[in-house]
Amino acid sequence: MAPLHRQPSGALIMHRPLIPQIKVAVIYGSTRQGRLCTKVAGWTIAQIEGDGPFCVESVDPGAHDLAEQKERLGRADAFIVVTPEYNRSFPAPLKALIDATGAEWRGKPVAFVSYGGVSGGLRAVEQLRLVFAELHAATIRDGVCFANAWDQFDETGRLRDADRAERAMATMLGQLHWWASALRTARNTVPYGQFAA
Ligand SMILES: Cc1cc2nc3c(=O)[nH]c(=O)nc-3n(C[C@H](O)[C@H](O)[C@H](O)COP(=O)(O)O)c2cc1C
Repeated sequence: MAPLHRQPSGALIMHRPLIPQIKVAVIYGSTRQGRLCTKVAGWTIAQIEGDGPFCVESVDPGAHDLAEQKERLGRADAFIVVTPEYNRSFPAPLKALIDATGAEWRGKPVAFVSYGGVSGGLRAVEQLRLVFAELHAATIRDGVCFANAWDQFDETGRLRDADRAERAMATMLGQLHWWASALRTARNTVPYGQFAA
């Protein structure tokens, strides 16, 4: 597939025929007071917004009511779940949001930005892959993960060493864009609902 390139301005550009922008919902996995999630999701959104191939909307269980969250998920072509690891798994508020929704995820891709201690949140991500299989969503192979995440962001939410994370993000976004474009075309050709149990 065509690669993503970053302009000097920071915007992501994908060199390929013009395709309508992919709408990405960035989902906040933590609602904890003082959550690091604000910084990790803020960085994620800053990476993908601009004049690039994506437009972004946040879905924050700590800020939006359920009706608003459903609406935002429903109009998205793709998702990025920003999740910490809690007790080797994903946080309860994230699962509550997933369990309160359903059709909004169907036939769409889900990518992950994870964070935590030594595992970088990857145990939460691996468990979420099983959850999203039940929702007829396709999870993306490559993600971005932050081990010992509290050391990686400064007080303003900037990454102390941005290179590795930006490369991982570009890889993930390339895959997410491919799946989101393909699945949007497929959903528009044959609605997925008839295949969902
Ligand atoms: C209840 C709880 C359980 C946690 N369990 C784990 C864990 O199993 N593995 C890990 O790497 N980090 C664990 N952590 C550390 C969190 O991943 C880290 O504090 C992270 O910043 C939490 O995200 P938040 O600040 O956005 O809520 C735990 C934190 C909390 C609050």
